[in-house]
Amino acid sequence: MAALILAVLSLSTLGTALRYGTEAPANAPATAYTVALLTSAETNPDAANFARCGGVLVSARSVLTSARCIENSTAEALSIRAGSRDRTAGGAVVPVSEITVHPQYDSSTWDYDIAVLTLQDDAAVRVGHATPAIIGSYSSLLADPTITEGPGAGPVSSTGALYGWGLYNYSDTAFPSNLLTLPGVIFVRHDLCADIWHYIRNITDRMICDYPGNERASWEGDRGGPLVDERTGKVLGIMSFSILETDLHQVVPEVSTSLEAVRGWIEGVVMWD
Ligand SMILES: *[C@@H]1O[C@H](CO)[C@@H](O)[C@H](O)[C@H]1NC(C)=O
Ligand SMILES: *[C@@H]1O[C@H](CO)[C@@H](O)[C@H](O)[C@H]1NC(C)=O
Ligand SMILES: *[C@@H]1O[C@H](CO)[C@@H](O)[C@H](O)[C@H]1NC(C)=O
Repeated sequence: MAALILAVLSLSTLGTALRYGTEAPANAPATAYTVALLTSAETNPDAANFARCGGVLVSARSVLTSARCIENSTAEALSIRAGSRDRTAGGAVVPVSEITVHPQYDSSTWDYDIAVLTLQDDAAVRVGHATPAIIGSYSSLLADPTITEGPGAGPVSSTGALYGWGLYNYSDTAFPSNLLTLPGVIFVRHDLCADIWHYIRNITDRMICDYPGNERASWEGDRGGPLVDERTGKVLGIMSFSILETDLHQVVPEVSTSLEAVRGWIEGVVMWD
């Protein structure tokens, strides 16, 4: 850990204080496809049964989430709430009938951190008025000359955003009821991200890195939620992990699973109608 801190302190040029996320606007495309994972009351002290993770509806019967979110769960114990920014009310609650974890998911390295939840019925879309997400391409986003990766000299433009019901910070204990967004995330070059994480984790080709801009960082509860290209509303990644120390949040990038990297597998597992 000491070595990591020394390594990151030399990169500590984005020393902005953390600020909090803002409530997700009703008209943001991600509001229509970000779902909350719920568990049965017996296994969860939170009155609203929040499983401390988000997910992304990609068809009327399928949700993408982080494999780590469901590592110790069974389908019977899980449901999702879709079509509502309030994780405790509204939209539709739909039970999960099957969990499919990526066959190459590795619970020690967190590589291929992705799972598909098959829903018992299509009520998320039919009753909950949720709209499935479209999967975007991270490599084509990076090919856009107006997108700047950080950190670097001069102003950084970024159109990425994260969505989730995660804690504001680690001093906080109550998860927010309403969906929050963290706009303006700055995409981070893969090699730079790998250098920064070097002593703790290997950053693989299945991972996309970002800095949390000047706003709230992703905390516990945000895992499984979408990394969105706000220009198009398409989903680029599924939130996977971040550093837990507040002071390091501006220097150690957050990491999402790249949907482009696992797209072939997703297309074979998702129930498309
Ligand atoms: C799942 O359970 C194992 C064994 O108790 C534990 O080591 C692991 O951290 C758990 N995984 C998650 C994601 O909670
Ligand atoms: C953590 O978030 C809560 C809001 O829920 C706020 O009241 C508190 O001041 C924050 N703590 C820190 C250390 O930022
Ligand atoms: C990264 O991967 C290499 C090769 O598998 C391994 O030797 C090393 O311990 C890994 N690093 C971390 C921090 O897990």
